[in-house]
Amino acid sequence: MADLMLGIETSCDDTGVAIVRPDGTVVASAVASQVELHDRYGGVYPEMASRAHVDAILPTVRKVLDDAGLTPADLTAIGVTRGPGLIGSLVVGTNSAVGLGDGWGLPVYGVNHLRGHLRSADLDEQRVTYPAMLLLVSGGHTLLAHVQENERDTERSGAGPMGDVTLVGSTRDDSVGEAYDKVARMLGLGYPGGPAIDRLARTGTPDVDLPRPGRDLGLDFSFSGLKSAVSRFLAANPDHPPENVAASFVEACLDVLLSKCRTALEQHPSRCLVVVGGVAASPQLRERAADLCAETGVELCLPPLRWSTDNGAMIGLAAWDYRARGLHERPRPTTSLTIADW
Ligand code: KG4
Ligand code: ZN
Repeated sequence: MADLMLGIETSCDDTGVAIVRPDGTVVASAVASQVELHDRYGGVYPEMASRAHVDAILPTVRKVLDDAGLTPADLTAIGVTRGPGLIGSLVVGTNSAVGLGDGWGLPVYGVNHLRGHLRSADLDEQRVTYPAMLLLVSGGHTLLAHVQENERDTERSGAGPMGDVTLVGSTRDDSVGEAYDKVARMLGLGYPGGPAIDRLARTGTPDVDLPRPGRDLGLDFSFSGLKSAVSRFLAANPDHPPENVAASFVEACLDVLLSKCRTALEQHPSRCLVVVGGVAASPQLRERAADLCAETGVELCLPPLRWSTDNGAMIGLAAWDYRARGLHERPRPTTSLTIADW
């Protein structure tokens, strides 16, 4: 059987493995979550994350092969996250992938995690049309990038249409996912905070007057002031209904994210808005993005929920682009990559 990429993701606290075809078909996928391990610390404990990846990675690879009814001899290549992320976790993923590649006689490609998130929008079916405006909202990043099809590149490589990526805005301090996680901790909710905040916010009324920071930053973001404002409000009003605090916080975050998207679409004409990363699992963000796209006549491209948070499938699909271009074989881990890097 040809055209089967094994994708491996270990940049943070999830061990994700999947087998993916070049058209985005996911043949099998599994994610070994470390949520229970880190919950008691209220965030990811890096050294424990690396050790948990060591324990989980080979059983997860085995499970995916078994679920697909395949053997290593059926695979074409391996794609693994080379960065950015926690260095210890990246080392476990890249070393394991290179070891498996050597043992099985397969090439191994190192994938930029952020390009993996971008490609998550084309999993299961091709959705992205170009030029595209990308909003990437995860635990580690909050950024806007304009993605243009580079026809010469596409023709030469025969790979996916992903071409030139230009970063047009990013956070100056915290990511939005980090703000969700920190506010969840203030409200006594578990880790990861995003889903818990979303659920609580649904039951509340946004009655707290919180700032919309970053108005003067162009397309850049800032979320640390919003987080501090929630902290000050809770200190002064400890008995305020937590669901109303959550609802007010979510509304403030979404106002900031969507107003920046609107400006970005005005400044960089785009056929679609692609929203990816863990926070793209938020139903409230999905609804507000749909409203903005309906109003501006831009298509909305969202990955299915299960491909929004970290997974091996998005790395597997992106790895086909690397293979076609012959990029980053036998990868080394690196923590410093931007969305514009391969
Ligand atoms: O993309 P991701 O899985 O990992 C990184 O690359 O960082 O994103 C994780 C982030 C966490 O901050 C988590 O709280 C947030 O995504 N998240 C959510 C939801 N699910 C995960 N935020 C809001 N709503 C959700 N449903
Ligand atoms: Zn991620």
